[in-house]
Amino acid sequence: MAPPHSTNGGSEHDSSTAAAFASLDTVSHSESFNTEHELFDAGHKFKEGALISSKEKYAAMYTRSIKDPDGFWSDIASEFYWETKWPEENGKVHTENFDIRKGPVKVEWFKGGKTNICYNALDRHVQAGKGNQVAFYWEGNSPDLDGCLTYSELLQRVCQLANFLKDKGVKKGDAVAIYLPMLMELPIAMLACARIGAVHSVVFAGFSAESLAQRVLDCKPKVIITCNAVWRGPKVLVLKTIVDEALTISLAQGVSVDVCLTYANDIALAREKTAWQDGRDIWYQDVIPNFASSCDIQWVDAEDPLFLLYTSGSTGKPKGVLHTTGGYMVYTATTFKYAFDYHQEDVYWCTADCGWITGHSYVTYGPLLNCAKVVLFEGVPNYPDAGRCWEIVDKYNVTIFYTAPTAIRSLMRSGDEPVKRYSRKSLRVLGSVGEPINPSAWKWYYEVVGDERCPISDTWWQTETGGFMITPLPGAWALKPGSATFPFFGIQPALVDENGKELEGVCNGYLCIKGSWPSTFRTLYEDHARYETTYFAPFKGYYFSGDGCHRDADGYYWLTGRVDDVINVSGHRIGTAEVESALVSHSQCAEAAVVAIEHEVKGQGIYAFVTLKEGVSYSEELRTSLRNAVRHQIGAFASPDRIHWAPALPKTRSGKIMRRILRKIAAKQLDELGDISTLADPGVVQELIDLTDV
Ligand code: WTA
Repeated sequence: MAPPHSTNGGSEHDSSTAAAFASLDTVSHSESFNTEHELFDAGHKFKEGALISSKEKYAAMYTRSIKDPDGFWSDIASEFYWETKWPEENGKVHTENFDIRKGPVKVEWFKGGKTNICYNALDRHVQAGKGNQVAFYWEGNSPDLDGCLTYSELLQRVCQLANFLKDKGVKKGDAVAIYLPMLMELPIAMLACARIGAVHSVVFAGFSAESLAQRVLDCKPKVIITCNAVWRGPKVLVLKTIVDEALTISLAQGVSVDVCLTYANDIALAREKTAWQDGRDIWYQDVIPNFASSCDIQWVDAEDPLFLLYTSGSTGKPKGVLHTTGGYMVYTATTFKYAFDYHQEDVYWCTADCGWITGHSYVTYGPLLNCAKVVLFEGVPNYPDAGRCWEIVDKYNVTIFYTAPTAIRSLMRSGDEPVKRYSRKSLRVLGSVGEPINPSAWKWYYEVVGDERCPISDTWWQTETGGFMITPLPGAWALKPGSATFPFFGIQPALVDENGKELEGVCNGYLCIKGSWPSTFRTLYEDHARYETTYFAPFKGYYFSGDGCHRDADGYYWLTGRVDDVINVSGHRIGTAEVESALVSHSQCAEAAVVAIEHEVKGQGIYAFVTLKEGVSYSEELRTSLRNAVRHQIGAFASPDRIHWAPALPKTRSGKIMRRILRKIAAKQLDELGDISTLADPGVVQELIDLTDV
C-alpha cells in the first residue's frame, strides 16, 4: 500500500536536477579520510598466487575492457553455457543509449543469446563431475544447528521446488515473491524461479507487512514463499503473521496471491500454533518432497528479466530495480572471481542476507557460478557472543570473509579478545560492503581480524549496478584504509561538478558512470520514466549513483556517502521521505522532517524532527508510538534513533524545508548554521535549539 504522502512539501526530494543534491562540501566525517598516504601492500606470497598480481596486469585488462568492451566481455561470456549463442554482428555484444538527450535510455547485453543462470550455477558443475562438492554449509542461529548441501543435492532441491511452481501455473515472466530468512530454502527459491524463467522478488524478512504489501501490489506475484517463524539472536520472529497481514492488505486493493508456500520451521514455532488459511497456505515439507528431483530448463533470452529487488530512493515509493539474465550472470561471476581472488580451494562466507542485493549477487549467483563452497548463516554476528563470526570461520575454515562496516564496528566494541580466542588462520581475503568504511574500523579489521595478512576488498556498488564497480583486486595494488581504490574492468567512473562538468585529477565530485556494463539495471519495474529522471537526468550523458566521491593524487577513489535524501543505516538504504511518510501516518503527527546523523556503530542514524498536531503534548509514550508507526510501515531497522520535537520546521518563504539547518541542529554544530535570514520565520531555529534535550 502506498504510504500517505508526507506534508513537508517535499521539493528537496525532487532529485531530477543536479541542484537538488547536497553540496559536496557539506559531506563531513568526524573521522576524515586522512589515510591517503598510508599504503598496505599484500605480501609476496599472496601476490605469487593472486589471479591479478600487479597493477600492470590489471591495466592491460582494464584498457582492453574499455577500448573493446564487446571483445572483452564476449571472451568471458564464452566460458558459460549458452543454449544458443548471441548473434555476433561485427563482434558487437551490446548496445546502449546512456544519454537521455539522444532518446530513451536503453541497455542490452548478449541480446538474442539463450541461456539460464540456474543451469550455469548448478547443472554445469554437476555435469563437470563436481556434484559431490559442497555448495552450501548452513550454520543456524544457534551454534549447535548446522547442515550442508552438495551441488547435486542443491540441484535436486531446486528442481523439486521448480516443479511445484510449474504445477501452480507459474510460467516464464511471472513474478514470485520470497519472504524468507537465511534458510537454505531462500537461495533454493531464487534458483528455482530462475530455472523456469520466473522473476523472483525477494523481500528482506525484516520488512513490515505494509512494506511487503506494497511490493506485492507492485509486482503481483502468483506465489509467495515464506516460513512460519525464525530465531534471530535470542528472539523468535513470527513471519507468517506478517505475510498474512500483507496479503490481506493487498487483497483489499485488488491483488490476490493464491498460493502461500510456508516452510515449517518447527524449532521456532509449531505448525499447530501457526495462523493458517486453508486453500491458500501450503506447508513446504508436505508437498515439495513429492515432486520430481529433475526439471527441464527454461532457456531464456539474455535480456529476459531475472529478478526485481526494491530499494529506497529520494521519494516515498520504493523502486523496483530490474535485472536481466545474461549480463548479470557474466558480471557477478567475474567480479566475484577477481575481487576476492577466488580459487577453487576457497571457502567463502558473506554475512549479508539474501533480502538485499549483496545476498543476490554475492551469496547466491556470483559464488555458485564459480562453483564455490558458500557458508550461509542464519544468525547475527554477536549471538550468542562477539566471538561467533570467528568461531564460524574456524569451524568451516573460511578463507574469504565478506561483511559490512557496521558489523566490524560493533564487534570492535567488544575488544580483541573474542577475536583472538579463535585461530582464523584459514582467512586469506577480507571484504567490506554497504557504506564507507572508516579508517579505524579498516585498520582493526586488517590488524586484528586478518592478522595483517589478508588484503581487504572494500567493494563499492549498488542494488542498481548489480555487481562491484570500484573495488580492490587483492594483490594487484597497495590498499589505502577507507578507499575502494580503482574501477573494475569495464567501469568508467566520472566525478562531475554541480553543472555536470567532468572533473580531472584530484577532486571531489558527484560519482557518475560513463557507459553501461553488463549488469547495469535495465529499468525500474513499470516505471521507465522514473528510471530516466532519477538516474540519467541529473547529469546528462551519465548514470548518476547518488554518492559523493573524492579522487586523490594517486587516482584512488574514496566514497564519501550519499548526496541525496537516502540514509545508510547499518548498510541499509532508507529514504528520508519513507520515514517521514510513516511518521505523518501517525494520527498525532502534523509534519516530519528526517535527516541523517553520524552513528558510532550504524554509520548513520535516523534523526527525526516532528511537529505534533494542535493540542498534543510531548511525551515519551508518544515517542514510542511514533517509532512504532515507522516499524509498522517500514520495519524495525528504520526506527528513528532520535525524535526531536519541533513546534515548526525551518522553511523558506516558498515553503521548502531547509534540511541543511536541520542537519546542523541534529549534529549540534550550532556555529555552522549559516545564513538563516531567508527563512520565512527565522525564530523557528532558536525554538528548535531550545528543545534539543527535551
Ligand atoms: C553505499 C549495497 C562506500 C553507497 C551493495 C551506495 C558504499 C549504497 C559501499 C548502495 C562502499 C555501498 N563504500 N559506500 N564499499 N558499498 N555503499 O543499493 O552509498 O543497498 O550508493 O547496495 O551503499 O546501497 P545498496
